Amino acid sequence: MLRVEHSTVRFDGRTALDDVTLDVGDGEVVTVLGPSGSGKTTLLRVIAGLQRPDQGRVVLDGRDLASVPPHRRGIGLVFQDHALFHHRDVAGNVAFGLRMRNEPAAAIGRRVRDMLELVGLSGFEDRSVATLSGGEQQRVALARALAPGPRVLLLDEPLGSLDRRLRDRLLDDLARLFAEVQVTAIYVTHDQAEAFALGDRVAVMRTGRLVQVGTPDAIWAQPADADLAHFLGLRNVRDGSVVRPEAVLVRVGGGDGNGVVLAAIRQGPTVRLVVSLDSGETLEALVTSLEHPEPGDRVSVEIDPAGIVELP
Ligand SMILES: Nc1ncnc2c1ncn2[C@@H]1O[C@H](COP(=O)(O)OP(=O)(O)OP(=O)(O)O)[C@@H](O)[C@H]1O
Ligand SMILES: [Mg+2]
Repeated sequence: MLRVEHSTVRFDGRTALDDVTLDVGDGEVVTVLGPSGSGKTTLLRVIAGLQRPDQGRVVLDGRDLASVPPHRRGIGLVFQDHALFHHRDVAGNVAFGLRMRNEPAAAIGRRVRDMLELVGLSGFEDRSVATLSGGEQQRVALARALAPGPRVLLLDEPLGSLDRRLRDRLLDDLARLFAEVQVTAIYVTHDQAEAFALGDRVAVMRTGRLVQVGTPDAIWAQPADADLAHFLGLRNVRDGSVVRPEAVLVRVGGGDGNGVVLAAIRQGPTVRLVVSLDSGETLEALVTSLEHPEPGDRVSVEIDPAGIVELP
């Protein structure tokens, strides 16, 4: 459906996007995950037609978009700073793209109502956007982008400016909404949890390149390299492979033991143990029980071979 082909963007000799090829299927949500400066926004700008690639091209439904200006690409945009029109009310914002197409007023009114219902803002039509909370503004931005029925929706850190709790809630809403409207979307984030929760597939970017593209399960099962494994929180790298923290089994007592607990950090339902082995190695383990070893405890550590992932 959408294909970015061997696209490269250079700024003053520095490569922001490096030979990126990415296919997005009809109705698919691809999340682009990468650290700051890795080229995520540049990729979206190339797809939207806001940045011409030095090499490569963008193809939508078999058509090369090179000569198609941004507003004719059938692409909806949602950015972090929502960029709403502050002199218009909510309905005026959502209706914007429809007015540009000279649709009849009655049809616009219906569509605006439907979109506001979709994002959970029924009845907000006449509110001034300046009086909305950050989360509400972001929903309006989403409704505005969806209203013209775009072929592809591009979202650039749309939850970036919101606090954690609101993000989690909007994340659930977004997942439901994407499934409901069957929209094809590319969603950029530097947050791993967000990328894995929303993406049918995750495209991992680093220094302008796609390092790995795959389902969340596939990436988690087999990260492309040690850096990505580390980025995903898999810190037990030994001899070119990764030991998953849940495969590091830690018992208190039982013989002399072979290590000492350095730290026990509760993270919601799990506790992350950092264990220093007598061999000099440090390993992280995940424990799900309420009771867990404490720092200073001598422990026996075993590794379940099933949890060892070979890195290429
Ligand atoms: N208009 C520009 N002129 C010069 N350099 C640019 C321009 N736009 C982006 N860059 C550079 O290209 C690289 C990629 O930038 P980009 O904005 O795509 O990263 P990003 O992954 O979106 O980062 P962030 O997570 O911080 O938004 C960066 O090094 C950035 O400084
Ligand atoms: Mg960016």
